[in-house]
Amino acid sequence: MWKGRFKEDTARVVQEFTQSLDLDWRMARHDIYGSIAHVRMLGETGILDKRECEKIEDGLLKVLSEIQSGKFKPEIELEDVHMNIENRLTQLEPLGAKLHTARSRNDQTAVTVRLYLRDRLLNLAESLINLLKAVLALAEKNKLVIVSGYTHLQQAQPISFAHYLLAWFEAFSRDYERLKFALNALNECPLGAGALAGSTLNIDREFTAKLLGFDKATCNSLDTVAQRDYMADFHYFASVFAVHASRLSEDFIIWSTQEFGWLKLPDAFCTGSSMMPQKKNPDVLELVRGKTGQVLGHMIDLLVSLKGLPMTYDRDLQEDKRGLFASLDVIDSVINILTPLILKVEVNEDIALESINGGKGRGFALATDIAEYLVERGVPFRDAHYQVGKLVAFCIENNLKFKDLSLEQWQAHLSSCDEDLLNLISPEASVANRNSYGGTGFKQVELQLGNAKERAAALESEFKELQERMRIKI
Ligand code: ARG
Repeated sequence: MWKGRFKEDTARVVQEFTQSLDLDWRMARHDIYGSIAHVRMLGETGILDKRECEKIEDGLLKVLSEIQSGKFKPEIELEDVHMNIENRLTQLEPLGAKLHTARSRNDQTAVTVRLYLRDRLLNLAESLINLLKAVLALAEKNKLVIVSGYTHLQQAQPISFAHYLLAWFEAFSRDYERLKFALNALNECPLGAGALAGSTLNIDREFTAKLLGFDKATCNSLDTVAQRDYMADFHYFASVFAVHASRLSEDFIIWSTQEFGWLKLPDAFCTGSSMMPQKKNPDVLELVRGKTGQVLGHMIDLLVSLKGLPMTYDRDLQEDKRGLFASLDVIDSVINILTPLILKVEVNEDIALESINGGKGRGFALATDIAEYLVERGVPFRDAHYQVGKLVAFCIENNLKFKDLSLEQWQAHLSSCDEDLLNLISPEASVANRNSYGGTGFKQVELQLGNAKERAAALESEFKELQERMRIKI
């Protein structure tokens, strides 16, 4: 394409080193849509003859169908998706030589990757809504199921399992907002920025922006070809989401071990051992955890590439797509495996309750409830904390659980208590009584679940509007 300036052909090793087809060929359809919008604009503004433009558009559609049927194989001699398509177009329709009027590959690659990323992000948004709905469905089933809550991975206080799941609803819905932020950030049209400084021709940038479902044309041509921070916005979403998915996986992995044992993972989402017949391994969740590092790495990769780049376009930017596509694929697969897995997770309630009530010397998860009982009877919290702490030590020394203590023993250790205390000593009562706003009390959870369902429904209808706003109008 640049033969005019050169006396020698490009060396084969250089072609191999500089090509980006292995990366960008997957954006062929989006590249063609960008070109169709561009050529329509050239016709609309009178820069090219309208009939010529129609022929070029027909040619582009032919190239598209050749690509979709697998008939057209790109060549690395032509470096990237953009030049392969333009070259094939010109073979089919010589007027194709006019397509690159008022355009550079710098604004072309920018528009193509934004269109591609937008498609993928809309897809992820839909999948993420499905994940949110799966979390809610499991929460609905587990409203009255009590499990242990942990801090420092030590048993802390009993909680409703639904409350735990609703915690993920919160985190994943914030991820959804981050995803939406990335979508909005990318939705400006680079076409017309040219190589870096715009065009001498009378182009209409709003026309192409509108056709391609962008909110507007980008307003600075240098910024347009140089910057990739909208990609960084995606990477940030992807990183935080991956970290969330990894933590959830870690919880499920731990709770499904023989040592905890109260969470049952679906057989269909676990694998066995080639040697040990008894094994049921949580490989899916381990891989979710294991893929997280890559996603974080890709964010750093982009930011490090950008940090020393002189304005405006530098070829380093070609590499921006490697980590982008890899992270898109990872996040897509993670969301789509977690959703069906979550729907089938079960709690073994007997084991869960047993681990709170006693067994293996445990069973002090209600200690805070007792301290708060004392507070209600006027004991300063620090004193109450001390008294209950002493009582726990006494129980451990004498191999007793709270359940084993007589009223006299309670009274011997606590400065103020009556028979009504005994009614508090159950995981059910403990959860039921935690009705402060946002707490694990059954009534609170019911309320939170109702709110969460409304929010999920609102996200769904908002998503449809987003999809419509960003639709390509070709
Ligand atoms: N394949 C290139 C990329 O992905 C297209 C832009 C090339 N521009 C250039 N000035 N060499 O960034």
